[in-house]
Amino acid sequence: MSNQGNNAGENPLRGAKGERDKHSAQEVEPQTFNLSRRKLIQVGAVTAASAAVSPGTAMSDGELPRTAPPEMMPVRLNVNGSMNQLEIDTRTTLLDALREHLHLTGTKKGCDHGQCGACTVIVNGRRLNSCLTLAIMHQDADITTIEGLGTPDHLHPMQAAFVKHDGYQCGYCTPGQICSSVAVLREIAQGIPSHVTSDLVSPPALSAAEIRERMSGNICRCGAYANIVAAIEEVAGSQES
Ligand code: FES
Ligand code: FES
Repeated sequence: MSNQGNNAGENPLRGAKGERDKHSAQEVEPQTFNLSRRKLIQVGAVTAASAAVSPGTAMSDGELPRTAPPEMMPVRLNVNGSMNQLEIDTRTTLLDALREHLHLTGTKKGCDHGQCGACTVIVNGRRLNSCLTLAIMHQDADITTIEGLGTPDHLHPMQAAFVKHDGYQCGYCTPGQICSSVAVLREIAQGIPSHVTSDLVSPPALSAAEIRERMSGNICRCGAYANIVAAIEEVAGSQES
């Protein structure tokens, strides 16, 4: 048989060209590998040396890399009807100012990236993701948080509707949902259109589609959406009559 001379494990269908390829591969591959390996070691050594040199200059005397000291700035925030004077790091978000400086922990930090709506508060009548804005941008602003909407004894109508319709399960998103809902009804009353408003001349309808679209920035991980819409519709209906 023509392929009797092949070693065990070789492809019996390989012809003369296959043999040549095999031999040239045996000769070339180790050399290529050695070159690549040497090059790799050289590049690695240079990278490691440069990485060690730059921080090493700063850290050779045991110091950590220096960062600029915080810039402090005074800011006045009118939160839930009471004026607060703060001296804060200019990088402080409104969310952190509310939670960490004013200890109003009803406003929740979910993603801290403007993606979940858990931090929604009402600033000068408009809803805002407080994690996406700096506190110093709101000098003398009127801010309403969930604590300012109602109390356990005197619930805001939207809070009462959420309770009635089971508009929450774990409750983490609820302060943001309620603040958003209150502002949504105001937006609709002011005639501000949304992405699903088809008639831009007439006032937007108080439909479930409008409510769902306008509330789409408020994520509920428990999936209480149907009940949240029912709660908002009830308040919207009572406001209409
Ligand atoms: S915490 Fe602000 S949007 Fe999620
Ligand atoms: S009630 Fe749990 S995330 Fe909305």
